[in-house]
Amino acid sequence: MGRRFVDQRRRDRFYRAAQREGLRSRAAFKLAHLAERLSLLSAGDRVLDLGAAPGGWSLVARDRVGPRGRVVAVDPRRIEPAEGVHVVHARVGDPELSARLGPEPFDAVLSDMSPSISGAYATDHARSVDLVRSAFTLAEQVLRPGGVFVAKVFAGDLVDELMDDLRPSFERLVRTKPPASRAGSSEIYLVGAGFRRRRPAAERPTPPTGAAPPRVPSHI
Ligand SMILES: C[S@@+](CC[C@H](N)C(=O)[O-])C[C@H]1O[C@@H](n2cnc3c(N)ncnc32)[C@H](O)[C@@H]1O
Repeated sequence: MGRRFVDQRRRDRFYRAAQREGLRSRAAFKLAHLAERLSLLSAGDRVLDLGAAPGGWSLVARDRVGPRGRVVAVDPRRIEPAEGVHVVHARVGDPELSARLGPEPFDAVLSDMSPSISGAYATDHARSVDLVRSAFTLAEQVLRPGGVFVAKVFAGDLVDELMDDLRPSFERLVRTKPPASRAGSSEIYLVGAGFRRRRPAAERPTPPTGAAPPRVPSHI
């Protein structure tokens, strides 16, 4: 660990707060902020946390959903066991994963997945967009209609196209950057609310003319 990195970290108020509060990651503050500001994750919700190690987001989610809820944390890296968090050691993109998650749908699918960093920004950006696409492919199988999708992505020229592809599947899709996300970091978060399960074109009814517009949650 370089001296500059250690100094920077010591000055970082979110890092210090995470240490003080015994949180597993400073990333926990990002989800806490998003959840608070956008009223995400309610008592009793079932939450799927992708790219969950070391477990900061999972603990924030667990505390929000309470004892009636459920948090399933997925990562190939080890996650220390925690009460109320069910760990699945797996890689998103593995075609067997959705079967391992069981038949009950989730109210929220979260992804804080990061690619291994190559150092070439265009490559890392493209990999991070691919991770969001993999998370969304899984969400399409396990998210309940009306559910919420939150995903981290590294900003860049592929994000507009990514959002255009995701937008039809949600009543509302926004991009945001929580305060705990370092100013110098390129990460942003996409938040989709009101998931619309898309059926194959052949099964879709022709929409009636004058149909009411879809309900959009007012808090996002
Ligand atoms: C920034 S960390 C997540 C931090 C976590 N949200 C927290 O608060 O503790 C990113 C994680 O993404 C995971 N990851 C990357 N690619 C993945 C994949 N295909 N499937 C599952 N996890 C993945 C990495 O193993 C890493 O643990």
